[in-house]
Amino acid sequence: MSNRDTDKAFAGSIPELYDTYLVPLIFEPYVADLANRLASRSLTRVLEIAAGTGVVTRTLASVLPESVSIVATDLNQPMLDLASAVGTKRPVEWRQADAMKLPFRDGTFDAVVCCGIGSWGSWGARCLSNGDYVMGVGPPDGVTAAGGC
Ligand SMILES: C[S@@+](CC[C@H](N)C(=O)[O-])C[C@H]1O[C@@H](n2cnc3c(N)ncnc32)[C@H](O)[C@@H]1O
Repeated sequence: MSNRDTDKAFAGSIPELYDTYLVPLIFEPYVADLANRLASRSLTRVLEIAAGTGVVTRTLASVLPESVSIVATDLNQPMLDLASAVGTKRPVEWRQADAMKLPFRDGTFDAVVCCGIGSWGSWGARCLSNGDYVMGVGPPDGVTAAGGC
């Protein structure tokens, strides 16, 4: 396994440590802002990419109307397993997916949301561009709510 592969693998003790220490320290402050941006819009289907242990997902499930379906994705299934175990106020579809190869047809979603990939540079920007396509609009102007941190 190369360094690049181990950098991408969030497994073993990482999901628990991530959720306990990094989420409150780094990511939680962005969550309300992201959720509020979406809550003011008329939406039917929202995709979250790189959802991790679900800090954003949990808030979206609380603030968005139940009529809005939420699909939360991440590359690493162990992160989603922890998110799913913590749970959400209402059902959410958890699905393993690489943000670089999203397994959805163009136009499936009307919003794509993400927190915590700001530090990924041009790679993060490419992930968000893929989000544009699954909303059925081409980059660069289709991302309804993209949170960078
Ligand atoms: C910094 S964490 C952010 C998690 C979450 N959004 C949050 O705010 O707590 C980055 C997440 O990106 C995921 N990730 C890494 N590469 C990915 C890829 N190619 N596609 C989707 N998710 C990826 C990791 O598994 C990890 O959960």
